[in-house]
Amino acid sequence: MDTGISEQMLDEYRHNGIIKVEQVITREEAAHYREVTLQLLESTPKGGPVNYAKAFHQYVDVWRDNDMLQSLTLHPKVGAIAEQLAGIPMRLWHDHTLAKEPSKAQPTAFHQDQIKWPFAKPRHTLSAWIALQDTPVERGCMSFIAGSHEVEDLPNIGTGDQERWKVEKPDLEWWPRLTVPLKAGDCTFHNGMIMHAAGANLTQEWRVAHVVILVDREAAYSGQEHVVTDSLGLEAGQRMPDDRFPPVEKYSVKG
Ligand code: SIN
Ligand code: NI
Repeated sequence: MDTGISEQMLDEYRHNGIIKVEQVITREEAAHYREVTLQLLESTPKGGPVNYAKAFHQYVDVWRDNDMLQSLTLHPKVGAIAEQLAGIPMRLWHDHTLAKEPSKAQPTAFHQDQIKWPFAKPRHTLSAWIALQDTPVERGCMSFIAGSHEVEDLPNIGTGDQERWKVEKPDLEWWPRLTVPLKAGDCTFHNGMIMHAAGANLTQEWRVAHVVILVDREAAYSGQEHVVTDSLGLEAGQRMPDDRFPPVEKYSVKG
């Protein structure tokens, strides 16, 4: 598949830990998926799968509950780009909707993702963050600390814990930051180890992101607590089962 990823983009990803890919889906597709997502959030009863938090409302594993959003999560282009960037075969780990309500949602604090996930030394993890509407700075686009995917001694920082990263590693505040506004259908791919945050939504429109997370296909389950795996009865040390966490090469097969 022609993913449009150049050698220069690959170098940029390796160096910074993040790249932007324009129009991974079209504006029209983004508008459609946004509508589907907002309807799903609205029709999901309180106490159900949506976690309502101050930084964002989160619906984990939405691909398993909605066939239309499944087609976005298992989008062949997203999978192909992920494998190109990682340089190894990958599988879906999970997806989530991250929705910031109009005007109220607070910033998302700087954190690394991979430390939150139950894998023992995966060779690579990454997230595709797909903007389902124009997402300028004022609507809560993402910011990344360039090169921080090499930093290995940070703790698990909560997405609402705004000041923690500065306490844990004060010099990070002075590293260059990449703030990446996205048009509807644009996407960032970020390494699971990079420090990243998102702004508050100061606009009158929802900020809806569809985030697809992929992991090294060979990664072993570590047994660490996680909402996606806790009920699955996996043994620490085993490989993730293909029928639940589809490898990119099997993306036409439903999980
Ligand atoms: C956000 O969209 O607010 C945060 C996304 C992330 O932490 O990956
Ligand atoms: Ni994150």
